[in-house]
Amino acid sequence: MQNIEKTQFGEQTVSPLEKTSLVRGVFDSVADKYDVMNDLMSAGVHRLWKDRLIAMIRPQADESFLDVAGGTGDIAFRIRQKLGQQADINICDLNEQMLRVGRDRAIDRGWLNEFSWTTGNAENLPFPDNSFDVYTISFGLRNVTHIDTALAEVVRVLKPGGRFFCLEFSQVQNPYFARFYDVYSRFVIPEVGRIVTQNKDSYQYLIESIRKFPTAPSLCTRMQEAGFSSAKFTRLTDGIVAIHKGITPKS
Ligand SMILES: C[S@@+](CC[C@H](N)C(=O)[O-])C[C@H]1O[C@@H](n2cnc3c(N)ncnc32)[C@H](O)[C@@H]1O
Repeated sequence: MQNIEKTQFGEQTVSPLEKTSLVRGVFDSVADKYDVMNDLMSAGVHRLWKDRLIAMIRPQADESFLDVAGGTGDIAFRIRQKLGQQADINICDLNEQMLRVGRDRAIDRGWLNEFSWTTGNAENLPFPDNSFDVYTISFGLRNVTHIDTALAEVVRVLKPGGRFFCLEFSQVQNPYFARFYDVYSRFVIPEVGRIVTQNKDSYQYLIESIRKFPTAPSLCTRMQEAGFSSAKFTRLTDGIVAIHKGITPKS
């Protein structure tokens, strides 16, 4: 019997190709409202999580950066703000519409040629081996069809001793807060999505994809299996999100 691979798109079981195309559709449809929705859904807290990510990275001027699933540029812009004009910052995303919004936002800030923008899939990055010192992915990994393939790509494109940082939704630890968060995410977020973007399904997918994402310790294990020499995580806001950090082997 033929073994046809299936994967999850939120609660739906689909083929890997269908998933990639459905994810592209989600971000096509929300690109223009993506930033305002982030602020509404998190009451602005996503900004603090992203600031914390940058504080953990401590970007250095002689490092090269790759921000995958970089979308509208939030992480890249923060690195640029820290380092100034000489920074080598590359943004890669599956979705052309998200990158278009990102480029417009960069121009609004007066940054005309400060970033390199590339359309590409985290599972098959269009960059040579050993290219970057730091790889970041913020709220992107849970959308990727084959997480282990994407992690192997991180190890490939990072230089020896390179640093990987993943900011992603995780698991709330306190059971009382978890109950509140469950109700909020199940009912409030898709409804806000419907009102602001006229697209409830995309935000329904967001919630379902959060639930399907690996636990923080299991993502660490998968990073080690992908070839990282060290992997650890820090929970923020009682575990609503976690930042995973990995280092690639020195040689
Ligand atoms: C929730 S947004 C995050 C954007 C930005 N990093 C942030 O933190 O605000 C997720 C992004 O992941 C991108 N994405 C989804 N699957 C991807 C893949 N396989 N490879 C690269 N980017 C992907 C989407 O197009 C979208 O821009």
